Amino acid sequence: MNLVLLGPPGAGKGTIAGIVREKLGIPHISTGDLFRAAIKNETPLGLKVKAILASGELVPDSVTVDMVRERIAQSDCRNGMILDGFPRTVFQADELAKMVKVDHVVNFSLSEESVVKRLSGRRMCVSTGKIYHIIYNPPKVEGKDDETGEPLIQRDDDKEDAIRNRLKVYQESTEPLITYYRDKGLLRTIDASATPDAVAESFLSAVTVSG
Ligand code: AP5
Repeated sequence: MNLVLLGPPGAGKGTIAGIVREKLGIPHISTGDLFRAAIKNETPLGLKVKAILASGELVPDSVTVDMVRERIAQSDCRNGMILDGFPRTVFQADELAKMVKVDHVVNFSLSEESVVKRLSGRRMCVSTGKIYHIIYNPPKVEGKDDETGEPLIQRDDDKEDAIRNRLKVYQESTEPLITYYRDKGLLRTIDASATPDAVAESFLSAVTVSG
């Protein structure tokens, strides 16, 4: 089953993918995580995209599509995947349609006010990728990853200016995909304002309904 997660930055896409991926038995592929790993490892791709991510702009379509094409050719994607953060433009969606058949697109609906609260309190562990929130999902020990004890960081793009820019970019470039996928009969919208477990449950019901 090939699933696409849509929704504004901070709506909880990565959090919910982390909860449901084992149940569904398919990998979670986050283009944001792939770019952040490239930045951390200082690869040529990482050096190219570092400033773009920090500003909240989108990486050029051609670079993103090539990276995704390479990732989904790997054997763990044989039975499907959860795509988080891709596609983000109509061009990317057209390219994805040439690569795989998309079964469901889950649109995470959340108010702008909640988005800002979630993003400004987010912390993450760079090596495990685990996502926390200082109020909604705090680590056991303040500022440290539960598993490794490594210090948690605040993403560069979770600072106020970048958050505002990401919301603008989302509205201009990514929101049109809601209509794009609705017209294809693939869109399922869920309320992302509930607890993570409740959102995960809505997600699983949305992707197990037929048609
Ligand atoms: P990316 O990493 O994809 O960022 P994003 O879409 O902005 O999404 P986020 O990761 O910010 O949010 P999320 O919805 O996953 O929320 P999360 O689960 O973390 O992309 C980053 C950048 O990479 C882009 O700006 C762009 O530059 C580049 N890029 C990536 N893909 C690209 C593409 N296709 N094309 C071009 N460029 C691309 O949750 C947020 C917070 O809320 C956390 O603290 C969490 O603990 C908390 N939370 C989550 N769920 C709940 C809940 N139910 N209740 C309470 N708190 C919750």
